[in-house]
Amino acid sequence: MTKQMHINLFIHSRGHHEASWRHPDASPLSLTDVRYYVEMAQKAEAGLFDSIFLADQLSLGEDVAQAARTWLEPITTLTAAAMGTSRIGLIGTCSSTYTEPFNLARQFASLDHISNGRAAWNIVTSWSAAAAKNFGDDVQVTHAERYERADEFLAVVKALWDSWGDDALLDNRGSGQYADASLIRKVNHRGKYYSVQGPLNMPRSPQGRPVLVQAGSSDTGKDFAARHAEAMFTAHLEKETAQAFYKDVKARVRKAGRREDQALVLPGLSPAIAGTEAEAIRYRDELNELTDVEVGRKRLSGRFGGHDFSHLPLDTTLSPDDFPDPETVEAARSRTEVIVGMVRRERPTLRQVLAKLAGARGHYVFAGTPEQTADFMESWLNEGCADGFNLMPPVLPEMLDVFIAEVVPILQKRGLFRTEYTGTTLREHYGLDRPAA
Ligand SMILES: Cc1cc2nc3c(=O)[nH]c(=O)nc-3n(C[C@H](O)[C@H](O)[C@H](O)COP(=O)(O)O)c2cc1C
Repeated sequence: MTKQMHINLFIHSRGHHEASWRHPDASPLSLTDVRYYVEMAQKAEAGLFDSIFLADQLSLGEDVAQAARTWLEPITTLTAAAMGTSRIGLIGTCSSTYTEPFNLARQFASLDHISNGRAAWNIVTSWSAAAAKNFGDDVQVTHAERYERADEFLAVVKALWDSWGDDALLDNRGSGQYADASLIRKVNHRGKYYSVQGPLNMPRSPQGRPVLVQAGSSDTGKDFAARHAEAMFTAHLEKETAQAFYKDVKARVRKAGRREDQALVLPGLSPAIAGTEAEAIRYRDELNELTDVEVGRKRLSGRFGGHDFSHLPLDTTLSPDDFPDPETVEAARSRTEVIVGMVRRERPTLRQVLAKLAGARGHYVFAGTPEQTADFMESWLNEGCADGFNLMPPVLPEMLDVFIAEVVPILQKRGLFRTEYTGTTLREHYGLDRPAA
């Protein structure tokens, strides 16, 4: 049987290209207008996508004067999107470093109830050094400790989600019995970082547990994903690294005692699509011309934990020595590996690095016809790179509309993508088991 792909829509700014917000094809709505997010969710649902995804950072970007870097808080926004849709999965980001397990378990269980089983949590530990300063920490918690805390956080959250048996809610008006207390358990967790008695103060949600998504790519991040993640986002600029990542994480999933098909790998793809390849390239170049190199320089600095790149000339060939060793980076470690790897291979100038990152921050950027886009996706699906894609349209909604109208039918004709929803929950769309209570 032909392997079918999963497609998630990553909604970010007015598109993933750094300059998308200024492009004439971008949505006229404000980024704080909830109708924008609901409209994107409805479009993705009309295109039969598995899910939509909202990222989150817990600080304001330093480049806000020249870059559209505002958004709405994900869980509240996804709640609104849930009310305007009926099938599409809803993935929201929340940081395990800066909240409490009890809060988070309630919020995502609520979203799962509200959406009838479509909620997912993108587990992040917050790589941004600036976020720490908004939560009372002058110094960011180290990379290793963030993941150690996250492991304990996950154990508590899972226990809270499982603290009600599936049949514990009776709501029997006749007998006067609202719940079967014998099926509700305390969690009594006392660990290094958290102390939580439980149980959760609401019945088990439709999916049992909301789906767990994660995007760490460092060694620690991949082992964490292997233990917990049911879907993994990942960024690659080359097919070879995508293949290596896929093979590596699937092996780690098996080693963690889990089935490979219960942990989907979804690399990012940002396609500019037009009737001819030349037109698609023109579209991408037009976007690149709208970028501001100083915005790119600040973002690069943020990825490397605030490292100063201001002295680097724009048009001189770079070497890996111009960057801190990724092993020493406490911020977005795996993305810094992607960037330094690209510098090692291609020896670009800083201007070229920034142009490449402007496209989709280190995810695969593509320009071509609908047929070429479908060919690309098919090859990554069948050559051990992906179980599906995290679609990151360079401009929203324009490039999403083109993808749905032109690429989806080709994928369907090739048997690579669903022609109707067969389930109602995100677990069903992704082919994931429902955890036992
Ligand atoms: C598609 C994608 C989305 C991400 N979204 C967020 C996000 O919303 N917030 C965040 O703090 N980090 C986000 N990250 C970063 C990861 O959570 C992680 O910190 C990063 O990949 C570095 O991984 P590492 O710490 O294991 O090296 C995202 C990464 C990817 C690939």
